[in-house]
Amino acid sequence: MEDKRNNLISLGKTNIMVSRIGIGTLTWGDPAESRTLSSPRIAYGPAGSEKDQSEALEVSLNAGINFIDTAAMYGLGASERMIGKLTRGKNVVIATKFPKYFFITFTRSLPEDLRESLARLQRTTVDLYQVHYPFPWLSIPGMMRLMADAVEKGKVRAVGVSNFSARQMRMAHKILSQYGIPLASNQVEYSLLHRKPETDGVLETCRELGVTLIAYMPLSMGALTGKYDKKNKPEGMRKYLGFYWGKKFQKVLQLVNLLRKIGEKYSKSPGQVALRWLIEQEGVIPIPGVRNGRQAEHNAGVLSFSLDKADRDAIEHASVQWRR
Ligand SMILES: NC(=O)c1ccc[n+]([C@@H]2O[C@H](COP(=O)([O-])OP(=O)(O)OC[C@H]3O[C@@H](n4cnc5c(N)ncnc54)[C@H](OP(=O)(O)O)[C@@H]3O)[C@@H](O)[C@H]2O)c1
Repeated sequence: MEDKRNNLISLGKTNIMVSRIGIGTLTWGDPAESRTLSSPRIAYGPAGSEKDQSEALEVSLNAGINFIDTAAMYGLGASERMIGKLTRGKNVVIATKFPKYFFITFTRSLPEDLRESLARLQRTTVDLYQVHYPFPWLSIPGMMRLMADAVEKGKVRAVGVSNFSARQMRMAHKILSQYGIPLASNQVEYSLLHRKPETDGVLETCRELGVTLIAYMPLSMGALTGKYDKKNKPEGMRKYLGFYWGKKFQKVLQLVNLLRKIGEKYSKSPGQVALRWLIEQEGVIPIPGVRNGRQAEHNAGVLSFSLDKADRDAIEHASVQWRR
């Protein structure tokens, strides 16, 4: 279901209405709590101030963006704690993820992890509870049964998965359907520099099953914003990844140049064109990571224009190498 006037769309086949774009909060949390070895800090550099995070939230809410994505793993609870603090009493849709720890976790940990997430988020219900990764040591049917139990107890409104293949999604969908619960979403990497969901069956399966595809890293860790070049690379380990390295970076900059040229027509930036391209894919919601109010305002600007067919075709043609 879509409410075009208010830029809202339902999460899968649930009655939860979310904005066409969300907020990614991988880097959020109290900077004092940010451990030097936490994965968001290693990838992105230190967390921004609480004021920056609070402004990012306020600007987004004022622009009608109500969908916030976090995870127990982000800063080992730091992101959830900050979201809990900043959203107290506010009308938002919060998505979080199980588990908290990468390795030391079991299928049976899910109810206790959920209890801890709810405490950090200062809520009695999570709007969307997602399985973060299909770790081979966790049982998909077992986790879906525990998810169904959490829905029945009113602790979870909708169930999602993340980084699931088409086959794994079907398995989760089948178990949940035995309880009359729809699989609401699959959160996977999807951007102009990573169009694999179009070829590995995930996007097609999402559409067939009525599952929303939540697109993470929609700006390819900032590479698609056009603010980085060979002389000016970003903070954190991300600068060593393919987006920012060697021949691939050269190709990224060529694509960014095209996005910049197309964006001039609409008075939009390369990053806004990249996010708009995702929004215009049926059933896809991007969740760009935002660091401050300025970035939030900029990202909200993608709700106020649309690409014409010639521009969409040109973008798809120029990024076809990233479909593999
Ligand atoms: N499920 C999963 O496995 C998984 C994995 C990764 C991420 N995620 C989720 O997806 C979200 C998004 O992914 P991501 O944050 O890793 O990558 P991203 O959205 O592609 O990039 C985010 C980065 O781009 C820069 N940026 C964002 N908006 C901007 C703007 N308007 N102008 C200029 N720069 C801007 C910011 O970094 P700088 O300003 O420092 O450049 C920001 O941290 C995460 O926050 C998280 O919620 C999920």
